[in-house]
Amino acid sequence: MAILVTGGAGFIGSHTCVELLNAGYDIVVADNYYNSNPKSLERVKELTGKDFKAYECDIRDTEGMDKIFKENKIDAVIHFAGLKAVGESCRKPMEYYDNNIGGTIKLCEVMRDNGCKNIVFSSSATVYGMNNVSPLKETMKTGGTTNPYGTTKYMIEIILEDICKADSEWNATLLRYFNPIGAHKSGRIGENPNGIPNNLMPYLTQVAVGKLECLSVFGNDYDTHDGTGVRDYIHVVDLADGHVKAVKNILEGNKGVQIFNLGTGKGYSVLDVINGFEKATGVKINYKIVDRRPGDIATCYSDPSKAKEVLGWEAKRDIEEMCEDSWRWQSQNPNGFED
Ligand code: NAD
Ligand code: UFG
Repeated sequence: MAILVTGGAGFIGSHTCVELLNAGYDIVVADNYYNSNPKSLERVKELTGKDFKAYECDIRDTEGMDKIFKENKIDAVIHFAGLKAVGESCRKPMEYYDNNIGGTIKLCEVMRDNGCKNIVFSSSATVYGMNNVSPLKETMKTGGTTNPYGTTKYMIEIILEDICKADSEWNATLLRYFNPIGAHKSGRIGENPNGIPNNLMPYLTQVAVGKLECLSVFGNDYDTHDGTGVRDYIHVVDLADGHVKAVKNILEGNKGVQIFNLGTGKGYSVLDVINGFEKATGVKINYKIVDRRPGDIATCYSDPSKAKEVLGWEAKRDIEEMCEDSWRWQSQNPNGFED
């Protein structure tokens, strides 16, 4: 019995591998290393003292994926593999639709052909679009996404729902993540973006470590407590633990489509994060206020109560711990896995 983790070498995937192994699950990883480094998996082995098979394979490679299912007894798939940069998705929509949507369909075909019909999918708060008011609940209307990346998440949710409707043997858990940051306490694995980061925390830590000069705060005229954008930051290890709970829930026979927000339920502004980081680490951040970033909303945070009720999961780590752990990873590995 094993869990296949697609995209397991990536940021959230590698942390989830650690938590799955620590919880006693056997795992198999499939990753094409497009946005990751196989060294992250070596570090997962080092951190857990456990071994597992990792295949360099694209989820769109039907033959390669079929071989993985034939060589291992896979009971469920946690599906992280995908492209995730919002801005890039606007420039390369075909690549995003092909990789994320095409890849998920190919993966599901191989799963079906091998009799594995349990999937946990990495969705995103982005599916709530621009018009819902926080705290966001799973029952709210989704759609109205504003970029191809977000639209792939919205469409994959619908595709998985249709697959479950058509065949009652299928079970799909859709996990809507809010803003994952932080890193494993050891400082051995963490987020390793290619090029200049788009997201707040990796940008901020690269300013802190001296790789980038100044953090741009995108707008201070939003209708929030200090005018800067408010988000629900969640520690990646809490997020990883949510996947362990979700996979347990699916393997215990909870049927059909289940949807959960994975967030803390608390909103922090950009300035709160900067101040929290400075307090937690003692490192000063050079920042300036600039214009709003197109497509951003003022406020986005979750109502995470459903995951607590049904999965018995809730986020435990606070913003200070998130900042400390992000900083430990960045300062110990200024060049990511190349150090
Ligand atoms: P990541 O880029 O670090 O990890 C994704 C992994 O998938 C990488 O290792 C990459 O090499 C691999 N991959 C991509 N395309 C593949 C393919 N066709 N075949 C095989 N492997 C492939 O990203 P992450 O932050 O760990 O995100 C994991 C998942 O969570 C993604 O689906 C992402 O869209 C989703 N998500 C992330 C966030 C976030 O802020 N990080 C928020 C919401 C949802
Ligand atoms: N921000 C800055 N400066 C930066 C980067 C970000 O001020 O250099 C601000 C943004 O304007 C926003 C907040 O910091 O107010 C968070 O921005 P991120 O880019 O870190 O995260 P987003 O909330 O924009 O997007 C994230 C994921 C998406 C996902 C979305 C909704 O990156 O993949 O959450 O779940 F779709």
